[in-house]
Amino acid sequence: MPLSLAQMRRNYTLYGLRDDLAQDDPIALFGQWLEQARKTEVAPVEANSMALATVDSEGHAHCRILLLKGFSDQGFTFFGHYQSAKGLELASNPHAAMTFFWPGLERQVRIEGTVARLAPALCDEYFASRPLASQVGAWASPQSQPLAHRAELEGRLRDVTQRFAGHHPPRPREWGGYCLRPERVEFWQGRADRLHDRLDYRRHDEAWQRSRLAP
Ligand SMILES: Cc1cc2nc3c(=O)[nH]c(=O)nc-3n(C[C@H](O)[C@H](O)[C@H](O)COP(=O)(O)O)c2cc1C
Repeated sequence: MPLSLAQMRRNYTLYGLRDDLAQDDPIALFGQWLEQARKTEVAPVEANSMALATVDSEGHAHCRILLLKGFSDQGFTFFGHYQSAKGLELASNPHAAMTFFWPGLERQVRIEGTVARLAPALCDEYFASRPLASQVGAWASPQSQPLAHRAELEGRLRDVTQRFAGHHPPRPREWGGYCLRPERVEFWQGRADRLHDRLDYRRHDEAWQRSRLAP
């Protein structure tokens, strides 16, 4: 008997978000939730994975999983190829949204804002910290471009491996980071009987205003 999706249902009872205990600063709260997710998830190394949604020049939305590589009051950073689909979409429309889902904690965080490229020096610094194989891979893979077959990618990898001969390559000019400056951060905590908690933070003149949303 196949499992009916319509019948799949879980009650969320682990935590709650109380108004009287709620933080004023969503960035600090994000940090606490991420740290808890890192410790709690089955595969804690992926606690920093999130879905990033972008919109292309025709208004069509696209979404993919990326790894968050840092966050601060300035924003949320991630890396990839500037000529990838996401890179081209961000170049034509800097508005983007990221969503984190931590099922072990029954939590979701939604972040919306405007994306800008990271300063080249910061991209260089992060690229230099990556393992050699990832550095070489960034040179070998023209991200989001069609490949005739896998052997084409492997051939490119052989070529760049030979070219750099075991030395750490510099950052490819078209590989780098982005920073999403948040305008809105929403924390969702699953609660019993679908009466979930949602705290919504919106940036107004550099200060955060918090409100509660119906689940
Ligand atoms: C767990 C996970 C982590 C990923 N991390 C990244 C990342 O940090 N940067 C990246 O460019 N792609 C990452 N990817 C691959 C992207 O999902 C996507 O395939 C790639 O960025 C190309 O997307 P685009 O064609 O929309 O630009 C990751 C995929 C998964 C499943």
